[in-house]
Amino acid sequence: MRDVKDGGASRAEREWNAEAYEELADPMTRWGAAFLGRLELAGDEVVVDAGCGTGRVTELLLRRLPRGRVIAVDASQTMVEAARRRFAGDSRVRVVRQDLLRLEVEEPVDVVFSTATFHWIPDHDALFRRLAAALRPGGRLAAQCGGDGNVSRVREATRRVMGEERFAPFFEGWEDNKLYADAGGTRRRLEEAGFERVETWLHEEPTTFRSVEHLTRYLEAIILRGHLLRLPEAERRPFARAVAEKIAAHDGPLLVDYVRLNMLAVRAGE
Ligand SMILES: C[S@@+](CC[C@H](N)C(=O)[O-])C[C@H]1O[C@@H](n2cnc3c(N)ncnc32)[C@H](O)[C@@H]1O
Repeated sequence: MRDVKDGGASRAEREWNAEAYEELADPMTRWGAAFLGRLELAGDEVVVDAGCGTGRVTELLLRRLPRGRVIAVDASQTMVEAARRRFAGDSRVRVVRQDLLRLEVEEPVDVVFSTATFHWIPDHDALFRRLAAALRPGGRLAAQCGGDGNVSRVREATRRVMGEERFAPFFEGWEDNKLYADAGGTRRRLEEAGFERVETWLHEEPTTFRSVEHLTRYLEAIILRGHLLRLPEAERRPFARAVAEKIAAHDGPLLVDYVRLNMLAVRAGE
């Protein structure tokens, strides 16, 4: 049953296990840190961190903004609470619970920064229009998310486990709606939404896990969140474990084949 609606997602779909994310998000923090290195900042900008999660990457962003401010936005109440605890007492940060498809800022901002979030929001046309509206003319978008080909090993293993007799009835008529967009389509969408000087590209981030148990917990808390909501509580761990075991059956190291979509763009109209 759908409860409090927010941009089409139910509360259960929107919520994350923030504690597990905080513990398991090393890959996202590492990619976020590297991507942040591409963003030129004078140190006094106002930046929206779009989909801040528990604030692990926001914290790195703040180190680059000694005289600036961050509006950290996330749709998940548990994530927002975790981020508020992290930044309590730091007057440079305001943590706001808001669906990015309904993003509203009091004053147009200098930069929208985002990591590991946009693939969770399938309507990129609407998302990019909203972000463009939040930026001042000449303001910049710097974002990275899952891109074309992302986690194909996980997706293949998941498809096979979903087809097993034990799990299949729970997935009838359901589709995972994450969007792993390509670089060309994203560029076009950004231009149509009012951005110029657009650069988009994909890069691979194969990520290893130390054990099937570690991967199982990671899949549960992050990649398979939506799938597990379809299942009764008692079936969730076995489902995630079965997917992890199928991934582990590949030759070589235990890895997830991440592909990241990067986007840099400037809000037109300067
Ligand atoms: C994988 S986490 C990334 C968090 C952080 N940026 C990082 O790199 O660690 C994705 C975040 O996007 C948020 N999110 C997903 N869809 C959203 C939406 N429509 N509006 C706002 N936040 C959203 C989730 O609640 C979650 O906290």
